[in-house]
Amino acid sequence: MDATPELDPDLLDKVVNLAKRRGFVFQSAEIYGGFRSTYDYGPLGVNMLRNVKNAWWRSMVQTRHDIVGLDAAIMGPSAVWAASGHLETFTDPLVDCLVCKERWREDKIDGVCPNCGSTNFTSPRAFNLMFKTQAGPVEGEGSTAYLRPETAQGIFTNFANVLSTTRKKPPFGIAQIGKSFRNEITPQNFVFRTREFEQMEMEYFVRPDSADEWYRYWIDARFNWYLDLGIPEALLRKHEHAKEDLSHYSKGTTDVEFLYPWGWDELEGVANRGDYDLSQHSKFSGVALDYFDQAANERYTPYVIEPAAGATRALLAFLLAAYHEDEVEGETRTVLRLDWRLAPYQVAVLPLSKKPELEGVSTEVLNSLQPHFMCDYDVTQSIGKRYRRQDEVGTPYCVTIDFETLNDRAVTVRDRDTTTQVRVPIADLTHHFWNLSTS
Ligand code: GAP
Repeated sequence: MDATPELDPDLLDKVVNLAKRRGFVFQSAEIYGGFRSTYDYGPLGVNMLRNVKNAWWRSMVQTRHDIVGLDAAIMGPSAVWAASGHLETFTDPLVDCLVCKERWREDKIDGVCPNCGSTNFTSPRAFNLMFKTQAGPVEGEGSTAYLRPETAQGIFTNFANVLSTTRKKPPFGIAQIGKSFRNEITPQNFVFRTREFEQMEMEYFVRPDSADEWYRYWIDARFNWYLDLGIPEALLRKHEHAKEDLSHYSKGTTDVEFLYPWGWDELEGVANRGDYDLSQHSKFSGVALDYFDQAANERYTPYVIEPAAGATRALLAFLLAAYHEDEVEGETRTVLRLDWRLAPYQVAVLPLSKKPELEGVSTEVLNSLQPHFMCDYDVTQSIGKRYRRQDEVGTPYCVTIDFETLNDRAVTVRDRDTTTQVRVPIADLTHHFWNLSTS
């Protein structure tokens, strides 16, 4: 039996539309006609993207003793990319259609131009995906710089700094979140593949003889991270790459794949990079990048296990998985069933009426919640419409302040998923939400 769930064929359009309409993601430079495949994160999107990154940082750095963080520069000199292999091998094969002149990635078109159906192309040539620039006013070899195409290399070039300043011993990891840039030939599917994107990468340094064990460990750990944050298991799978498809540095790669509206595709890659990176940087820089194990009286170059995720791509997967249309009181509603930790707002404070009597107590409630939770505050429209607006952006709880509040010092808390309502004393409200969020 095929366990693959049926997907709404319009799901991507619906999510793209909601993302724009409600301020998650905007087309970049839209007032100038838009900058192709480049996106800006609006007031709700920026909250959610931060939450995705915080959830990752929490699981990778905060709640572990064996992983530390780093924030390396985005721009780097040619030497780094010569050593890493990116100057030579980070290329896609490009062909031009001889009939309509469109340019394509040869490996993506199956021998036929997707634009005009022609089978006549130029011979393929290697196109490097890195953005090249120049540091300082004088052009020349010495001033050539590149925007990083992955955050990983900043971790390898700081390996010795981190080792000596933290006194960590393998197995240990260095985690980093930040922007990466690739001059993708076919950016597509909203924020799935863009030229500017954010990565969440961790390089885990291990004894070579334990690399396989750690590789398996990280595949499972990363798969479970998405499950824990609410992606249903039916929308996730692991896909191990065939040997001939591996990147230049990899001894083994397994992708965590997500069932996007266009089919199964990569969400995150977990790779066993062997000692490729540390050995290359050691060779090119002349600086030893190895580890001396005093107990075993043995020097070795650690192997690296790398779980490499995209923050912006994960945001898309979380939105797609959370999007639902259901029926409440005979009406269809759109609801984002986002995990509490990812929702742009955790709580919405909604005074029932704009009347001045409710203003003081509403502000008091808002002020008591804001230091702990990201809150929205909305006094416009009917309460029913305001609930729908909050459901649509995934706010797990709405707090309604009514005239009774003035007497009983209590508010109504409404649950996004069940739409059930409970009365909670204002004095208990913060604890009420803490308990819900940790249960
Ligand atoms: N350091 C290894 C590395 O960068 P990758 O598979 O090329 O591996 C890791 O990238 C993750 O970064 C991908 O699984 C994806 O989530 C994200 N990513 C890569 N290219 C992207 C792009 N053009 N747009 C959005 N996300 C991208």
